[in-house]
Amino acid sequence: MTVIEQELETTAKMMVAEGKGILAIDESTPTIKKRFDTINVESTEENRRAYRDLLITNPGGSKYISGMILYDETIRQSTSDGTTFTEKLINDGIMPGIKVDTGAKDFALHANEKITEGLDGLRDRLAEYKTLGAKFAKWRAVITIGNNMPTDACIDANAHALARYAGLCQEIGIVPMVEPEVLMDADNTIERCYDVTEKTLSTLFTTLKDQDISIAHTILKTNMVISGKQCSTQASVEEVAKSTVRCLLKNVPSELAGIVFLSGGQSAELATAHLNAMNQNNKDLPWPLSFSYGRALQEPCLKAWGGESTNIEAAQKALLHREKCNGLACKGEYDEKMEEAA
Ligand code: 13P
Repeated sequence: MTVIEQELETTAKMMVAEGKGILAIDESTPTIKKRFDTINVESTEENRRAYRDLLITNPGGSKYISGMILYDETIRQSTSDGTTFTEKLINDGIMPGIKVDTGAKDFALHANEKITEGLDGLRDRLAEYKTLGAKFAKWRAVITIGNNMPTDACIDANAHALARYAGLCQEIGIVPMVEPEVLMDADNTIERCYDVTEKTLSTLFTTLKDQDISIAHTILKTNMVISGKQCSTQASVEEVAKSTVRCLLKNVPSELAGIVFLSGGQSAELATAHLNAMNQNNKDLPWPLSFSYGRALQEPCLKAWGGESTNIEAAQKALLHREKCNGLACKGEYDEKMEEAA
């Protein structure tokens, strides 16, 4: 094994170590503004730094969190005592990751569909991020369900970009977290979500293999197979867990290093319950099933903070609670009674 392969192997294993998952705090500046708007906090650079500071310095978080995904601005910032965020994370045994795509843009000739950009100059950006401490990277593709959507063209183009990004990551020893997110905002049934997720994942893995990506050194970040938010019939926790695992077993190669889920707008508690059900009912899957939630980990914490430094302790407690619940869900050991005690 080459030194780079050894590095990829170690990082990928650590990302999905037993009982641990990833905290996504890589909101772009426009997205974090939307989150701050919900608590009436102005999105200034200092407020963004202060908020990320409390997420990163949360005492006890490293018991459940293996890595955090940062944004370009965040990876260059420091804690209030002047330690860089990446140094703080590394000292706590948490691996810094970095979002490297530059956003989902309108896909030409395909109304309402998106293609993720960011390949130009990516080799040089990855080299810089590596010197700043990044061990893994994330690229998010967006697949929209609707009338005559998604098109094959959209799924193919996004898979192609994901594979090119993954290759550039592996070349330099950064583990690619490939994220093809099938949105859960529409009125589709869970069956439709299954079909679209299946097509998306099977295309993605064919494309990754075509481009000689090492699947064993890749992490998949995916949506769960779930009813669209506007659908009048909402599948139960058991149905979501069952359909998601079935879809993954059918379409994801067994040599993949691990699978982490995005929360995609599910409530914090539901996202935990879904992950727990999958792990409770399936003890010998080929890959670890873990989390890489943004909103489902942060929402209670963001609310508790409300932009006030006097609320930092309460906010960190709320975050730690969600981290613990999801850490246990990775082992199928979460119990919803834990929510009452919190
Ligand atoms: P959510 O868990 O809020 O969907 O965010 C995860 C993420 O990183 C999306 O790219």
